[in-house]
Amino acid sequence: MPRSVEEICAELDVAARFHQPMRHLTSLRTGGEIACVAFPDTPEKAAALVARLEEHGLRWSPLGYGTNLLVADGPLDRVAISLRQLKTPVVFEGCQVKVPAGYSLPRLVNQCADRGLSGIEGLAPIPGSVGGAVKMNAGSHGYEIADVIVSVDVARDGRVVTLPRETLDFAYRHSPFTERDLILGTTLQLRTGNPEASRAEIAEYRRHRAATQPVRDNSAGCIFKNPGPGLATGRIIDELGMKGETIGGATISPLHANFIVTDGSARAADVFALIERIRSRVREARGIELDMEVEVWE
Ligand code: EPU
Repeated sequence: MPRSVEEICAELDVAARFHQPMRHLTSLRTGGEIACVAFPDTPEKAAALVARLEEHGLRWSPLGYGTNLLVADGPLDRVAISLRQLKTPVVFEGCQVKVPAGYSLPRLVNQCADRGLSGIEGLAPIPGSVGGAVKMNAGSHGYEIADVIVSVDVARDGRVVTLPRETLDFAYRHSPFTERDLILGTTLQLRTGNPEASRAEIAEYRRHRAATQPVRDNSAGCIFKNPGPGLATGRIIDELGMKGETIGGATISPLHANFIVTDGSARAADVFALIERIRSRVREARGIELDMEVEVWE
């Protein structure tokens, strides 16, 4: 009976890297060393890995592209499961596309546009994986991935299980999936469109994002959710005059106030301190309790 992560990965023929600095695996470029990152190359191996780790009481977390993730500075005694190396192909069938979780969302959006499939153009500027997008119901420019989901494949009891959309509760930046779920892939329903029109729409969204968000800096996207209809956290923080405020290597972006950007010296503690400062100022000034939009690993 294998006990260690090394033994479990070897037994299941899953590639693994040990003692990896999370700052190299997140777009915010902070975070301590994680015990292991595992890279299963089939959904079946991924599902078996989750079951094996749980059987041995070993903690694990799904890792997408690390673009919506804030990892604490200390060592993390857990296994991150990355689906970047899944060999599953993307399958187009009529107006549906079945895509593995580790696939790039912007790449998928481009491919759909090229094939004349419309319905996810607004997701093009989101620099994440398809699995990560499903997990947080990523959205942009009025689009949300949940609007086109037909089903989601997840790991359950060592197997791959397909959950139909009707059984899944999605809301603004919320899905029914928790950190105990490994999303393995999804099937999306698109509609017949026009490649030229889709490409033009995508180009406009990318241009808008580059003009309004700090795309060249290290960040995790928007830090907080918007608190309600008609309320934008970015505007609220901006109105409090907090743009440019810095703690250590973390700064409130001068371009978009709901982004925290980091330089090479930043520690996660700097980011957490800036988050607390923003929260308490917004609470005092506006009576609003801001909810985190980024995922946190502590
Ligand atoms: N605004 C300011 N100052 C700022 C930032 C924004 O006054 O520093 C104002 C804008 O001028 C605008 C309003 O606030 O009037 C809303 O700003 P924006 O259009 O940039 O949209 P957002 O609500 O801040 C949301 C998503 C983004 C997504 C954009 C584009 C959330 C938390 N954020 O931002 O998603 O890219 O719309 O559709 O829902 C993310 O999820 O990480 C993310 C960046």
